[in-house]
Amino acid sequence: MNVLGIETSCDETAAAVVVDDGTVLSSAVFSQVALHRPHGGVVPEIASRQHVEQLPRMLDEALVQSGLQWPRLQAVAVTYGPGLASSLLVGLSAAKALALRLNIPLIGINHLEAHLYSVFLTRDAPRYESVCPLVALIVSGGHTCLVRVDAPGQYRRLGQTIDDAAGEAFDKVAKMLGLGYPGGPLVSKYGEKGDRRSIELPKIYLKKDSLDFSFSGLKASVYRLLETRSEEVDEAFISNVCASFEYTVGKIFEKKVERVLDRFPEIKQVHFTGGVSANTYLKGVLTTLCSKNNCEFLTPKNIEYSTDNAAMIGAAAFQLVKNNPKIAKIQHIDAQSRLNLGEFLDHHREAVKN
Ligand code: KG4
Ligand code: ZN
Repeated sequence: MNVLGIETSCDETAAAVVVDDGTVLSSAVFSQVALHRPHGGVVPEIASRQHVEQLPRMLDEALVQSGLQWPRLQAVAVTYGPGLASSLLVGLSAAKALALRLNIPLIGINHLEAHLYSVFLTRDAPRYESVCPLVALIVSGGHTCLVRVDAPGQYRRLGQTIDDAAGEAFDKVAKMLGLGYPGGPLVSKYGEKGDRRSIELPKIYLKKDSLDFSFSGLKASVYRLLETRSEEVDEAFISNVCASFEYTVGKIFEKKVERVLDRFPEIKQVHFTGGVSANTYLKGVLTTLCSKNNCEFLTPKNIEYSTDNAAMIGAAAFQLVKNNPKIAKIQHIDAQSRLNLGEFLDHHREAVKN
């Protein structure tokens, strides 16, 4: 099956063509970062307008790169949540129109679930079924969650953030330091030059055994550190703050994954996905932890699959269709700005009933 994937949930406009053995024929991404940068964050009105302007170009690019013609497409997969409502609507409307015009199924995809597929997009990746049960740490600008996956599509949410997402904390710390937007890659760049133990920041693990996360206290302590500093905020200091911040986030991730492995000794696979999984330091921390615990560690090999893309949206569609053949008939899916992992199946069942 040749699936066209479409992603417009936030500030990346993306289209891709994927075939059902997981091979990515094409993946076109337009990053809107430069347009949001002057505003210090994503402006929803700009995002949706850019999706309208850029999506036709991304669709063309994805088709041309794939070497296929429109009639060869057999399904359209599109993110229908979670995300910015006005942005989701752009991708969803385009996907509906294409599905109608080409007379092929429309498959709504949960963006968070799609991130789980991002580790399987490279040729040498293992088969999803063969690595379950696994625990996945999905960390993006809007989400931080720990999920146990017993089989593709069978999820148990173990923990999530009770306040800010980790990516959001990266973005806010970068903003406080005057580094710009998006913060993750910049904090990472400065962090590499700093001393990770130079500044003690609070490692908030929450109560014993908790698998939830909290990053607002960490963010607030960076704010207080800057507010109370009398000396110059020079590059060396900025690098030390970034390095110490990453070190603290790393300690928190390490603790939570350790707790999962203690609680579920049968789990031998740890996956790290979402935009923050592009972070070299954090990948290193989790790699070390996994090898100490005799676990396999998997994270997207290409950074372009850590951050938002449409290849993972296309890949997520195959399993959904395989497990739930009736889903493929749906043509009426609504945008859901709030959506939990696992919730998509309930929406699909409702849609099939209607
Ligand atoms: O998954 P994603 O592309 O979009 C959402 O679904 O939110 O994640 C975006 C987030 C942003 O907060 C960005 O700062 C963060 O991922 N990010 C990083 C890095 N690259 C992107 N965080 C830490 N280190 C990075 N290298
Ligand atoms: Zn994402």
